[in-house]
Amino acid sequence: MVPASSLWQETRTFFPIFLDLVDVRQLKSVCVVGASDGKFVLPLARRGVHVLAVERNKTALDGGPVVLPGPTEATMRGLRQRLADEGLSGQVEIVEADILDLPDELDAVDAVWTSCSWHYSINHRRPLADFITAMKHLCRPHGGLFGAEYMMPVAPRHLACEHYPEEGEMRRFFPDWEIDWEAYTPPFREAPHVEQLHEHTHRMGLLIATHLQEGCNAD
Ligand SMILES: C[S@@+](CC[C@H](N)C(=O)[O-])C[C@H]1O[C@@H](n2cnc3c(N)ncnc32)[C@H](O)[C@@H]1O
Repeated sequence: MVPASSLWQETRTFFPIFLDLVDVRQLKSVCVVGASDGKFVLPLARRGVHVLAVERNKTALDGGPVVLPGPTEATMRGLRQRLADEGLSGQVEIVEADILDLPDELDAVDAVWTSCSWHYSINHRRPLADFITAMKHLCRPHGGLFGAEYMMPVAPRHLACEHYPEEGEMRRFFPDWEIDWEAYTPPFREAPHVEQLHEHTHRMGLLIATHLQEGCNAD
């Protein structure tokens, strides 16, 4: 079995709010951190945006075996193949790397987006601030847009981990940015999906912020 859509297609997301701002502000370049097999990369590329796709998982990029709920063994198509299928490869620069070890020479983009990536245990070796700073560095200084949806604590082990921020905690990372959106879901039941093969509970937060011009305050 080779699913044609992203393996993450059915998981909930605030992404339409971010995409709306990309459209309204006519942003031309967006970095997706934790791009996986393209749930967010493809909609951006289809509307002509140049996308920088950062992903550390080789299978997500090149395709290969995965286990889906059932459990069912399947073959993942991978981001490169999904882009090629739609003739969008030229629109997307793929960087196979960890956001925490990115090469310095990457050009800044108009906007940066991530979805439920920094809570992965591989990122717990470094402070959450390092992940967020790496994303901010990719974002152009004046008017650059930062968007992140992230897992919030729903289990006791999450409360001891700063990579599951509570309500309002994200603001401390954005003292010189204008906050465009903050939103929080209540805890919700999510159907089984890749990497989480049983029904489970999530809670998600959203923060979207704009890098202010120098000397320009939000008030
Ligand atoms: C929840 S998955 C979902 C992908 C995407 N949110 C979607 O719905 O298509 C998060 C992705 O972030 C990637 N990721 C996590 N930490 C990363 C890091 N430090 N650098 C690059 N990618 C990372 C994972 O490999 C995974 O593919």
